[in-house]
Amino acid sequence: MDVDFLVIGSGIAGLSFALKASKLGKVAVVTKKAKVDTATNLAQGGVAAVLSATDTFDEHIHDTHASGDGLCDKAVVKMVIENGPARVEELIELGVDFIRNEKGELDLGREGGHSQRRVAHAYDLTGHEIERALVENVANNPNIEVFENHTLVDLLMVPGQDASGQKECVGAYILDEERNVIPYRAKVTVLCTGGTGKVYLYTTNPDIATGDGIAAAYRAGASVANLEFVQFHPTCLFHHLEKNFLISEAVRGEGARLVNAEGEGFMEKYEPDMKDLATRDKVARAIDQEMKENGCDCVYLDITHKSREFLQKRFPAIFGKCLSLGIDMSKDFIPVVPAAHYFCGGVITDQEGGTSVEGLYALGETSCTGLHGGNRLASNSLLEAVVYAENLFQYCQENWQEIEKRPLPEVDAWAAGTARELREEILINHNWDIIRRIMWNYVGIVRKKSRLELAQKRIAEIRQEIEEHYKNYFVTPNMIELRNISLLAALIIRAALKRKESRGLHYMLDYPTKKDAEKRGHTFSKYLR
Ligand code: SIN
Repeated sequence: MDVDFLVIGSGIAGLSFALKASKLGKVAVVTKKAKVDTATNLAQGGVAAVLSATDTFDEHIHDTHASGDGLCDKAVVKMVIENGPARVEELIELGVDFIRNEKGELDLGREGGHSQRRVAHAYDLTGHEIERALVENVANNPNIEVFENHTLVDLLMVPGQDASGQKECVGAYILDEERNVIPYRAKVTVLCTGGTGKVYLYTTNPDIATGDGIAAAYRAGASVANLEFVQFHPTCLFHHLEKNFLISEAVRGEGARLVNAEGEGFMEKYEPDMKDLATRDKVARAIDQEMKENGCDCVYLDITHKSREFLQKRFPAIFGKCLSLGIDMSKDFIPVVPAAHYFCGGVITDQEGGTSVEGLYALGETSCTGLHGGNRLASNSLLEAVVYAENLFQYCQENWQEIEKRPLPEVDAWAAGTARELREEILINHNWDIIRRIMWNYVGIVRKKSRLELAQKRIAEIRQEIEEHYKNYFVTPNMIELRNISLLAALIIRAALKRKESRGLHYMLDYPTKKDAEKRGHTFSKYLR
């Protein structure tokens, strides 16, 4: 299969870029489940941008830096935020139906860390609405072909054209529905595979979030950074029938308070200024502390002061989900716990989405652009995805004559060697489970050197076993995902051990204070043995 653009992932980053790139050439979008099985589709909050006369770029920039705790890249923050309004306008032109007030202006929500109401939303179904509009546009585009249930195995790497000796990327090996591994050759390969929440036992992410793009890029030699900064969303619904349902921060934006079982608020004790609307790192840590001190399984959100009519209209999905579980949020507290939500680190890119590997680009949660620093500001991620999709498109358009001429060299067919069928899925499932528990228990919200070292040792042993399986058996989607989360787990731990301070989302009991800020976090680009 030969295309101009190979886009891996079908969330907001992948589909936005695919739609633009289709003006230049043939696009293949490869996605490992159905098109809509993406983190975008589950996003509740919305897109943060300066969209009202009372807001300013400076304030949004200030809030982003304050949340990022000294690690955001200044030029990147300015560029992304100043491009925000135009990208929201573009989404509207694509058919995204953001909610408007009676004056016809965008109804803007507020979330933790924002000093203003600036989140364009479609109630609590914003991601679903964006995904719907993008999928519809893609379906009507003859230059885009979508391959569902196709899994990225590894990138196609060939010797580079220049004298540097560096390899370059010319596409990817893709596992199709019949379990064949096919080389997809492309002039431009774009990783938009989202984050890696599934490396943790509890996460708000969909099942696809196994860090596939980051792992493949890393194996190909791309530089990755900031992997220690895993964002735990403070309020994931705590219920035995629900595994990953988010209670949007917009609920606190509308006045909900975090309380204990007795109904006593506790955020004032931890964050006297911003209280319940402090940034996510601080709120998640406060909840973790409360739960540990009181030995309780969860805390609660109290928004019972709002009317049933308001809640039903503003939060239709959350209201409906809670009610289906017997929780009437206009009368009852909502039980919540923190859960892994967003990966602030990823594949390092420049302002056009270019990685350190020729021919390879990364967008959205897969990338580390410098926008989020040590803790992403709520609703800045959908914004980042659309801004960088546009930047990469502009880059490709400006350089199209050269890119179009890029030769697609012969590549080796996938070598299965003496591999055989693995008949015991239990071996895969068992290791999945162990990795996720180790990460949750030892590499969570509050970290300790001794626990990280223990986790490092255990994960190294498991990775050895997984690599053996990978060599000896036919690859399956499960095996690919397990291999990727095990690599991501190892990298997160390595990054966490390297950061000998507490900053943003990385809180170390051994080093509770902050050191001098750097531009970016620790960078790794050598394959981890
Ligand atoms: C939320 O709605 O609380 C999540 C928004 C985000 O992760 O930016």
